[in-house]
Amino acid sequence: MVRIVLALGLFLGLWAAAGGYGIGLPLTDEQLASYEALPIVRPSGAGLPEGEGDPATGFEIYAFDCAGCHGPNGEGAPFDRLVADAPFSLDLPPHRFAVGNYWPYATTLWDYINRAMPFASPHNMDPDEVYALVAYLLAENGIIDADTVVNAETLARIRMPARPLYRVDPLTRQLFPWIELP
Ligand code: HEC
Repeated sequence: MVRIVLALGLFLGLWAAAGGYGIGLPLTDEQLASYEALPIVRPSGAGLPEGEGDPATGFEIYAFDCAGCHGPNGEGAPFDRLVADAPFSLDLPPHRFAVGNYWPYATTLWDYINRAMPFASPHNMDPDEVYALVAYLLAENGIIDADTVVNAETLARIRMPARPLYRVDPLTRQLFPWIELP
């Protein structure tokens, strides 16, 4: 049985390498350029553009562009929950992981939303809109006050509740002893 599975895997691998799966569309030059134009934001906040946003503005954008997939207040359904309803614990089912109990950095939340959301039409928001959405999600998760304005500097200073859960794993630590998580 193992041999059949291995042979099948090899066959599928060769088939994919030879001509792909015959699904999807090749990226156009414009699509590729739009990905390459995106800023790359690091946990330290390096790469965040100028701009700012507040939770109330974020809520207006959220209601229009995000609520249909993430729930009216980020409670999830049909897709990922964004507002945590409990602190992280290993007993918590993964569908209850959210920004407030699982995301290590506020900076990379900006990057993710800028890069990937809204799911069906990403790369269509300006930096202020993304800042506002991040502010809204941080406020709903109880991480900032409802009237706090966020920007590149303040996002980099936020210590997320889940940050202490993240560590360098022992093998990586052994291979790269100098690595420190920001
Ligand atoms: C058409 C549905 C849809 C819309 C609209 C949408 N999302 Fe999403 N969102 C998803 C899906 C699906 C995922 C999971 C993607 C994955 O795991 O690869 C996701 C994941 C996320 C995540 C990561 C969740 C986590 O903790 O893993 C965030 C944050 C997020 N979306 C924010 C937004 C914001 C902000 C908007 C509005 C600008 C938005 N989304 C609009 C479908 C949507």
